[in-house]
Amino acid sequence: MYVCICAAVTERQIRTCAQNGAATLQDLREKLCVAGNCGKCARHAKTILREVHAVAAPASTLDSATA
Ligand code: FES
Repeated sequence: MYVCICAAVTERQIRTCAQNGAATLQDLREKLCVAGNCGKCARHAKTILREVHAVAAPASTLDSATA
């Protein structure tokens, strides 16, 4: 599903970008041009970022606890 119509960016692209290190809307803007025009997608893009990092956080917490 398209999240950013202006830049034709999909939810999948945002999830992949977040999994590859994008942590902020600014990161998404730099890498995918998300929210670089009208900005209507910003809220949804941030929600996706939070979802990806919420899922990733417990695993990284375990990694640091066992290291
Ligand atoms: S919908 Fe993303 S900048 Fe317009």
